[in-house]
Amino acid sequence: MKECPQVAAVRYTEERNMKNNNQIIIYGGTGFYGQKVVEKLIEKGQAVKVVTRNSENAKKIVGDKVELFQGDVTEKGTIEKSLKNTGAIVICLSAMSNKLIRKIKEIERDAVLEIMEEAKKANISRLVYMSGYEMRKKVLDDLKIPEFGAIKIEIEEKIRQSAFNWTILGDSPASEIFFAFTNRGRMIVPGGGFNAIPTISPEDVGELTAQIVLRNDLNGKRIKLTGPKAYSFPDAAKLMTEISGNKIKHIAIPLFLINVVSFILLPFSPFVRYLYKSLKLLNNFPKDLAEDVPNAHKLLRELFDYQPVTLEMEINRRINENNL
Ligand SMILES: NC(=O)c1ccc[n+]([C@@H]2O[C@H](COP(=O)([O-])OP(=O)(O)OC[C@H]3O[C@@H](n4cnc5c(N)ncnc54)[C@H](OP(=O)(O)O)[C@@H]3O)[C@@H](O)[C@H]2O)c1
Repeated sequence: MKECPQVAAVRYTEERNMKNNNQIIIYGGTGFYGQKVVEKLIEKGQAVKVVTRNSENAKKIVGDKVELFQGDVTEKGTIEKSLKNTGAIVICLSAMSNKLIRKIKEIERDAVLEIMEEAKKANISRLVYMSGYEMRKKVLDDLKIPEFGAIKIEIEEKIRQSAFNWTILGDSPASEIFFAFTNRGRMIVPGGGFNAIPTISPEDVGELTAQIVLRNDLNGKRIKLTGPKAYSFPDAAKLMTEISGNKIKHIAIPLFLINVVSFILLPFSPFVRYLYKSLKLLNNFPKDLAEDVPNAHKLLRELFDYQPVTLEMEINRRINENNL
């Protein structure tokens, strides 16, 4: 008889507890998505270790129920030492910031490969890796931004070839993205954002990832994490207008302006170039993927026990907080 997922999760946790290596280690556990994963695991009574470059700062983010391991994943020894007494790994490292972008290869590629190497030596089998929604090489090549997804594509391939009990997560952008472009009744979007894109609340990323790492029946699966529906930016502006009763005007500005600025700034701030590439991808998000979002979401509802936070709920929350 097939074991139900919840029972399997409890059994798997008990097995790890018995082996005394029940701690789940989160690389990137202080990040936008990672901190939600930590929060949900703690709520479920799990022992969690977070690797961070700054413990003091991390404590403010993840609280004191978490073991903190201070270290930089690009420095020798950090990974090997941090993996001691852990039984499962979640990787949500990111170098997508002005400060870190120059070290993207060291943080997002080399360190992840080292985590895999050291985990193998330490006999840790469960590995969960956060990636992008779907890393289609052809789309990136056609848009002439192959390097934008190259690291994630390479790491996904290495994980697929490995002997880990692995699950890869295809994370959607956070629904925050619609609000980030909205200010004082105007949603100003480079390129317009006319293609529908999947989005998800960080809350749901945390809950789903926590359930996923605790389950032992998702080996070899790539799971897309998305909200119920794909929205374009004009769709999102319309929805905000309907719910709030205040007009949110969608305004498109030419993407080539960002292209030009990013070239000029390249020697000083390569991050703007990455932003341009992510905007280019967003504006050319494949239609078939967007159309399939309800199916991807339906699968999540079948596989996991959770109540999704919809874009409507996010809009209402912001209205209640006087934040829209
Ligand atoms: N955010 C999104 O909308 C989104 C969308 C799709 C996919 N994703 C994927 O989700 C994952 C997490 O993204 P995120 O946006 O949550 O990341 P984020 O907020 O930028 O957080 C980055 C994390 O990486 C850690 N980190 C960076 N450099 C490090 C180093 N040298 N040593 C140790 N830790 C280091 C940081 O820890 P400390 O600062 O504490 O050291 C922090 O916890 C990524 O794989 C990303 O591609 C995110």
